[in-house]
Amino acid sequence: MTKRIISGVQPTGNLHLGNYLGAIRRWVDIQKDYQCLFFLADLHAITIAQDPEKLRSSVRETAAAYIACGIDPKKSIIFPQSTIAEHCELAWILSCNTPMGWLNRMTQFKEKAGKDKEKAPLGLYSYPVLMAADILLYKTTHVPVGEDQKQHIELARDIAGAFNREYGVEFFPLPEPVIGAEAARIMSLRDGTKKMSKSDESEYSRINLTDDADAIALKFKKAKSDMEEGMSYAQNRPEAANLLSIYAALKGISKEKALEECQSLNFSAFKGQLTDVAVAHLSPITQKMRELLASPDYIDGILKEGVQKAAEIAEKTMGEVKDLVGFLKL
Ligand code: ADP
Ligand code: TRP
Repeated sequence: MTKRIISGVQPTGNLHLGNYLGAIRRWVDIQKDYQCLFFLADLHAITIAQDPEKLRSSVRETAAAYIACGIDPKKSIIFPQSTIAEHCELAWILSCNTPMGWLNRMTQFKEKAGKDKEKAPLGLYSYPVLMAADILLYKTTHVPVGEDQKQHIELARDIAGAFNREYGVEFFPLPEPVIGAEAARIMSLRDGTKKMSKSDESEYSRINLTDDADAIALKFKKAKSDMEEGMSYAQNRPEAANLLSIYAALKGISKEKALEECQSLNFSAFKGQLTDVAVAHLSPITQKMRELLASPDYIDGILKEGVQKAAEIAEKTMGEVKDLVGFLKL
């Protein structure tokens, strides 16, 4: 079977180093060899209240970030999820075949719903079914994501299997998560035990792809450190381990090599070195993003093209699904 790849990020604000190292940077390499679809997960974004104007601009900004990071619109299909109605249509059909017990196990819902689950929106709960639809609609086989999404991809596999069994077909391939070993989970700069996330209220917890050199330097300077000597991956030093991993991932070297280079540095000298590496790596991306955002028509053009290509695949799969389910075609 030929491999087909899909992934997406929620356009809910600035992309950060975790999104970049955990997901997008790896998409760039994969696109050379396989047909890839990279979408802006705006339907997922509204599981949490969004300001409509901000959401609209965030979709363009996130698309610009994809391209600035190296996603090539000539090779890969880039599109906003909400433009392809089949995502929702398929999600409904799949939801009719998904036991609630499976959804009850999802840890992300438990984290995001907070204490009062009765008040959590239904969309936040059924979100993984929409995610399964995103993946299965294009009969994708591999899904490159950060580690936090692994459980959702495993659920998508189960949902694909349930559909195939229900209708007695080998229709959907069972998708596999593709998770990089090196930067699967980048942690917050303020707390090495918490993942770096867009939703963290502290700007100092993350490096954004739009941060300039001064902001990057300041954020690393303020990053939590400890009083131990030298740098290491010791379990009781999650912040040191996280910053070393970031250093390794940005330089494209192994964790062991990063340790060799930096173990004798004290925390503040290491932070200086890390800042230089981060600025050198990220500033061309930031620059490219700025240029792209100055031409919104160019971005919209790319997205329109992406929508056309995605629609072709989506309509075909949906037609086949409707036949299998037994809907009348008029
Ligand atoms: P966030 O959690 O910041 O809102 P998303 O949920 O939109 O980010 O995630 C987009 C992609 O980035 C997913 O593939 C996710 O696994 C990956 N990702 C997000 N945060 C991290 C992180 N801290 N480390 C590694 N990968 C991450
Ligand atoms: N749930 C993913 C996230 O929050 C985004 C996403 C939605 C996705 N649908 C997907 C990723 C399908 C991969 C494939 O990061």
